[in-house]
Formats: sequence, C-alpha cells, structure tokens
Amino acid sequence: MKDLAVYIHIPFCDKKCYYCDFTSFSGLDKRIEEYIEYLLLEMDLYRETLKEYNIKTIFLGGGTPSYIDGSYIVKIIRTLFEKYNCSLVEEITIEANPGTLDREKLMQYREAGVNRISLGVQTLNDQLLKSIGRLHTAAEAIENIKLIRELGFSNINVDLMFGLPDQTVADCISTLEEIVDLGVEHISYYSLILEEKTMMNRWFEEGKIRLPDEDVERDMYHEGVNFLKSRGYEHYEISNFCKPGYQCKHNLFYWTLKPYIGFGISSHSNIEGKRFCNYNTFKDYFDSIDRSKVPVLEVEDIDSHMEMAEYVIMGLRLIGGINKEDFKGRFGRALEDVYGKVIDSSMRAGLLVDDGTYVRFTDKGLDLSNMVYVDILP
Ligand SMILES: C[S@@+](CC[C@H](N)C(=O)[O-])C[C@H]1O[C@@H](n2cnc3c(N)ncnc32)[C@H](O)[C@@H]1O
Ligand code: SF4
Repeated sequence: MKDLAVYIHIPFCDKKCYYCDFTSFSGLDKRIEEYIEYLLLEMDLYRETLKEYNIKTIFLGGGTPSYIDGSYIVKIIRTLFEKYNCSLVEEITIEANPGTLDREKLMQYREAGVNRISLGVQTLNDQLLKSIGRLHTAAEAIENIKLIRELGFSNINVDLMFGLPDQTVADCISTLEEIVDLGVEHISYYSLILEEKTMMNRWFEEGKIRLPDEDVERDMYHEGVNFLKSRGYEHYEISNFCKPGYQCKHNLFYWTLKPYIGFGISSHSNIEGKRFCNYNTFKDYFDSIDRSKVPVLEVEDIDSHMEMAEYVIMGLRLIGGINKEDFKGRFGRALEDVYGKVIDSSMRAGLLVDDGTYVRFTDKGLDLSNMVYVDILP
C-alpha cells in the first residue's frame, strides 16, 4: 500500500480579497449544497484507484472552508473515511478565516477528526487588513486563535503576508511578535505575489497603491526569519516555520513529490505517474461528474527530465535541501550526473552548498532562487 495526501477544495468566500486569485467565489452561496453533493460523487469515481493507497493527510482548503456550514465538513470527512483506507490518517487540516469560526463549528471539526487549524490572519494591523479587503479585525483574529486553543486543538497554523502596500518592517515584526506570543505551532509567512487578475494588480498598474521596494521586502523576510528563529521556530521551508515536530505533513507530500489527489474544482493531483488538474468552472465540473467521468480538464505530460527538475525545484524549497540518496533511489541516477554543471556553478556563486548528503540553498541562494531554477528546467 502506498501513502497518499488528499486535498479538498472549497471554493466559497464571504468576500474576495483584493490580492487573491485562488479559485474562490463570493455571492455564490446557493451553489454550496450542490457542490458538496458533487464532491462526494467525485470521490466515488476514484474508488478503484484509491484501493491501493493509505490516506495519511487530509487538507480542506479554499476558498474558505470555515465559511460553509460545519455539517458539510463533517460529511466530507465521514465520506472519505467510509470510502477509502483512512485508518492511518495522521493529519486533518482545515483552512479558516477569522470571523467565520465559532464554538459550534470548531466542535464539529474536532469530532470529525480535524486536528490542525490553519487560520488566515495575514497581518494584525487593522488599517492594512482593510486595505487588502479582509473582513475581520486583528482583535477577531486573536480571539479566534484563543478559541481554537480553548477547544482543544494542539496544532494551529497562522498564515501571514508581507510586502503589502504601505506595510513596514516594524509592522511585520510586531505582527509576528503577537502571533508568537499566542504560542501557535506553525507560521506560514508569505511574500505578496501581485497576481495579474486581481484588484490589487489593477490599482498598482493605475498607480493608486505603492508596494515596498525590493530591498525593504527582503528585509521583511530576513528580519522575520531571524525573529522566528530567535523564538525557537524551525525555518524548514522557504515560507514556513514551526515548533519542533510540527512540520505540515500534508505540504511535505507536495514538496517531495509524493502522491496526492485533489477533489473539487481546479484542484491538482499527482498519482499513478500522472499529473492532472480538474475543471475550474462549476458547470464543467458538474457536467463531467453527471456523465460519470472524472472531472479532469488537463493531464500534463511529464517526462522523466521534467519530473527530475520538478523534484529538485520543490526539494530546494526545503531548507534542509535535497537528499542525494533519495534522488538516486527515485530516479536511478546520481543528482550530480544530471545537474552537476548547475550545482557546481551555483556553488561557485555562493547560491548552493553540498554537505555530502544534502544539496541546499545558502541564505543568498534563497533570495536568488530563480537564478538556479532557470538552469534546472529542461
Ligand atoms: C488558500 S489561501 C486562503 C485561505 C483562507 N481563505 C484565508 O484567506 O485566510 C491561503 C493563504 O495564501 C496566502 N495568499 C493568498 N493570496 C496570496 C498572494 N497573492 N500572495 C501571497 N500570498 C497569498 C494567504 O496568506 C492565505 O491565507
Ligand atoms: S484570501 Fe482567502 S478569503 Fe480571501 S479571497 Fe482568497 S481564499 Fe477567499
């Protein structure tokens, strides 16, 4: 039996944030019930394939899974447990937004087996929260973290963002301080990506907002990293930090290219040697399932060179780097045989180090990772 990570996409939000281009919709609440029915039907279509797998992690992401009624979440998890081999599940995460959580929902999650809550806080500066389109205040976020803890969850992640319009390094550190003081086990600290189809990108192009200069943005990152390390958090992935033993098991499947399956619109899968993504509209997704066909929009053609490149690019996201023996075990070739030239030149430029067992980025390499990636891609 092989290990598998399962992702469930819940594409509903109360309001679209100005920076976000995830597949998520506001004002489509009338679709929620129907969507959940189709999610469960999609699971049926994979019954045969998944017989060979033990599910190790489940991640309900979005969108805002905590926006929909808690009973839907219970139903999704119960159905997974009924249909697949779930006796070895170690981690069940749900993404939640401050302001959408309450005692009752959290109790429902806990009873369904959720053991990790990932709360999107972004920043604890109220003015900034408003300017990026968030509906909650900093005080609500803090109250929610306390409530999650009070209800017995011992693994909490908080998502934060830096590089936001008019944000300062001091803002970032003061948010990190407050979050660390609340004792959360895991922090994702993301640099803002200006996504093309977002309101924020439009305002930026029209000159209506200003983003921090690149050197300020890098300071936000480095000072954040140093602060979190000084408070006992392990920096284990470019954007992720945790107390010892609390790495996100689900995301480790993605970073080490282990099998995962995504259910729901626009979700991605990597299973049975195939990489594919689902339809990204309700209509196409529903129509395909109505015809008892897996709702797959596109199957990517991954040859072995592409797979090795992806493995290296994803693996280098981990601060510990790529284990050379694992690479050889998986692809039957030494890492140096395939990427010797890039590794040598990147080492000379001070971007990579090789300690004999692992190849990883230096601090400089983490900032200039794209320079290495372009030479790795076939
Ligand atoms: C799937 S999203 C949203 C989860 C949840 N709905 C929320 O808003 O808190 C997960 C995280 O990605 C990050 N994110 C979303 N859009 C981003 C962007 N354009 N650039 C950087 N990080 C982004 C945010 O920190 C967000 O919490
Ligand atoms: S950041 Fe979260 S709440 Fe905001 S639009 Fe994206 S998925 Fe929805």
